Amino acid sequence: MGRATSRRRSSCDAGQRRYAHERDGHRGQRRDRGPSIPPPDRLAAHANVGPDVYDEASADRLAFWATQARRLTWTQEWDEVLDWSNPPFAQWFVGGKLNVAYNCVDRHVEDGHGDQVAYHWEGEPGDTRTITYAQLKDEVCKAANALTELDVNAGDRVAIYLPMIPETIIAMLACARIGAVHMVVFGGFSADALASRLDDAGAVLVITSDGGYRRGAPSALKPAVDDAVGRSPGVRNVLVVKRTGQDVEWTEGRDLWWDDVVGRQSTEHEPESFDAEHPLYIMYTSGTTAKPKGILHTSGGYLTQVAYTHWATFDLKPDDDVFWTAADVGWVTGHSYIVYGPLANRATSVMYEGTPETPHRGRWFELIQKYGVTILYTAPTVIRTFMKWGEDIPAGFDLSSLRLLGSVGEPINPEAWLWYHEHVGGGRCPIMDTWWQTETGAHMLTPLPGVTSLVPGSAQHPFPGISAKVVDDEGKELSDDSTGLLVLTEPWPAMLRTIWGDDDRYVDTYWSRFGKNVYFAGDGAKKDADGNIWLLGRVDDVMNVSGHRISTTEVESSLVGHPAVAEAAVVGASDPTTGQGIVAFVILRGNAEDSGDELVQELRTHVGKDIGPIAKPRQIMVVQELPKTRSGKIMRRLLRDIAENRELGDVTTLTDSSVMNMIKDKLPAAPSED
Ligand code: WTA
Repeated sequence: MGRATSRRRSSCDAGQRRYAHERDGHRGQRRDRGPSIPPPDRLAAHANVGPDVYDEASADRLAFWATQARRLTWTQEWDEVLDWSNPPFAQWFVGGKLNVAYNCVDRHVEDGHGDQVAYHWEGEPGDTRTITYAQLKDEVCKAANALTELDVNAGDRVAIYLPMIPETIIAMLACARIGAVHMVVFGGFSADALASRLDDAGAVLVITSDGGYRRGAPSALKPAVDDAVGRSPGVRNVLVVKRTGQDVEWTEGRDLWWDDVVGRQSTEHEPESFDAEHPLYIMYTSGTTAKPKGILHTSGGYLTQVAYTHWATFDLKPDDDVFWTAADVGWVTGHSYIVYGPLANRATSVMYEGTPETPHRGRWFELIQKYGVTILYTAPTVIRTFMKWGEDIPAGFDLSSLRLLGSVGEPINPEAWLWYHEHVGGGRCPIMDTWWQTETGAHMLTPLPGVTSLVPGSAQHPFPGISAKVVDDEGKELSDDSTGLLVLTEPWPAMLRTIWGDDDRYVDTYWSRFGKNVYFAGDGAKKDADGNIWLLGRVDDVMNVSGHRISTTEVESSLVGHPAVAEAAVVGASDPTTGQGIVAFVILRGNAEDSGDELVQELRTHVGKDIGPIAKPRQIMVVQELPKTRSGKIMRRLLRDIAENRELGDVTTLTDSSVMNMIKDKLPAAPSED
């Protein structure tokens, strides 16, 4: 693949000069009040939304969302925009009917855009597929017919455990088309994690593949499915996409090749209308306990908000833009901004199977150049990795097609923001730092292009039609510059409706701390004197590793499940690249032998098998005791201090402060890398 030797030096030089002094003055620090970067004039003149959008939304929030819902095609209009008579159980667009897949695919074909590319897909080895809206419609119809043939009905749960290939999206849309509820499980999760999700959701079908390509080699998926399905009697069939050609074990009668079953179906399929509140999907996410939560999203409100936020936040121009969310479909970012938002808006997207460093570290930039990507949306952890690799890599490619950048998944530190802006965005691309969660379904805090003056490191303002506050422990709104908790004070269309099968947990987790009308997000936050909101990370026992949510309790319970471990405590220690890294402290059982490195590797493998490779601790320290308060609670704050090599704070509530010295003595010199 040819590399461009020169990179356009653009209009941004002025911009680069403008930031230079702040950058130097704040290197390595979190900036509390950043420079305010005004929107470029050209963008302001042509952006999809103007400054009056905030007033319009606050004048009548429900009318505003109804206007956005009308961007979709409904077969029956709703009677009521919001029913919030039984908080926190919301119903949006009550009585309205639509088909989500029709809205994402068919209507664009009917409008004459069948030849427009929906996805430029590229596999890690460099194989490519171009899929137009007309082709996508045919494939989704065939897959929908196949699901019906397999006796999958509206309301049934279908697990999707696939790599980043077009069939993942086709399978999701086929489910949506027939009203089945999809449950995509990230391919990096283990057989155990998959089994517990299949069981919790009561899945009847698993759609998987022989494997996918990752880091230059085929990696298998089917063995994990065989293992998990063996324990899930409710799963009737396994539909297998051929991707790598690896040998697979086959269970006759249960396993079916996608190509056989889907390949023979008709491309005709009449979409049925479903209620606005019909369940669309379940996405499992880590909570503060060992059991992941099945976040339930429904149809009309979810699609309304993902479509509108995708259009407004990214200033999406369907005829001109090439949009790329560089994330995995297995996470909510992929659901909302690779699949549902872009398709509802008739976007042309890029979808890439592999990792950023395969076969070389310029792979992403090469793809931007090749497809003329105009909008790139990714996570700060990736930006920090690129920073580590050096600016010469992006400088070797022509990135002049880019006009807007997005960030998601964790706070973006100002240094990473400025680097992204300069070395990827050529100094001319505004960055939308979007705060949201699996639970919120769509963007909740973000600047708006052409409207908001940008402040590097801050997600800034609630999206129009969203109400957010920073409050203290009692729920009282805080004055400027105080640190508190982020809450959402009004229901929103894409909000989760419940935790699958556990309404009580839904109420307890999100809507009990400050009453049934206030959503507790679990994030610390602060509002500066200019009204910008800064996110400060999780306040609960959830870690954020490379933008992935992992529960400390989940890793602890895996560790204590190993026969050598008596007790475990896990903390998220700050990490310059991944945001946080997992550090575990374990006490061994009396008869277990501390074999040093060997044991540590064994424990890491054990956690990888229980949860998935992303949950493997960066460091595991074998200790004699753990610091506990007099009431017996593990003092994670101290463990975090140790893991981050900080001076220890107040240890007066420790039962035995000598414990700390014992733990410190056990610290290895350098963290192990995977
Ligand atoms: C964090 C990902 C700061 C936050 C869409 C949240 C962020 C959790 C941002 C949700 C951001 C996400 N700035 N923090 N722009 N975006 N977070 O469910 O802690 O995987 O609660 O959803 O990621 O992670 P989730």
